[in-house]
Amino acid sequence: MEEGSVNRVSAIGNAAGPAAEWRRFIMTTTKLIELAVSMKKRAYCPYSGFAVGAALECSDGSVFTGCNIESASFSPTICAERAAAAKAVSEGHTDFLRIAVAGSGPDLCWPCGVCRQLLSEFSPDGSLRVIAVDGNGRWESATLAQLLPRAFGKHSIRCDSL
Ligand code: THU
Repeated sequence: MEEGSVNRVSAIGNAAGPAAEWRRFIMTTTKLIELAVSMKKRAYCPYSGFAVGAALECSDGSVFTGCNIESASFSPTICAERAAAAKAVSEGHTDFLRIAVAGSGPDLCWPCGVCRQLLSEFSPDGSLRVIAVDGNGRWESATLAQLLPRAFGKHSIRCDSL
């Protein structure tokens, strides 16, 4: 996973072979994880006490961060991934490449089902690389297609015009 030193052009130009998926990324994995971890400081989580940070990289190299935001009326709570996604889409970035999600517990912080569904909207082929991080900085990754197989999407409702 030697993706760290590539620039945007070579990342795209070298896209072939088994390591191609990693080469197209602009940030290092370590940096994206560090950003996600640092966003835990912004978490507003007085009810669960479980801080989550996210860092989302888009295909043009732009990165959007997010944290979880809880509500006293619990259901409006927003996960860190969806906070980051809302920032990206509202700034016009809708092609998601990679997201790091850092939790605060002993388990890797894989996105919840609702977040998987929303992320799928902006990675319809499921190639989004999801990096789950635990409270100690240990991480693993998987594609969104692995996390949400047979996803419901715009094809499912025959929105061909979208
Ligand atoms: N949470 C996230 O931010 N992302 C996830 O993928 C899982 C859960 C947040 C929501 C809530 O504020 C807290 O973690 C406990 O569920």
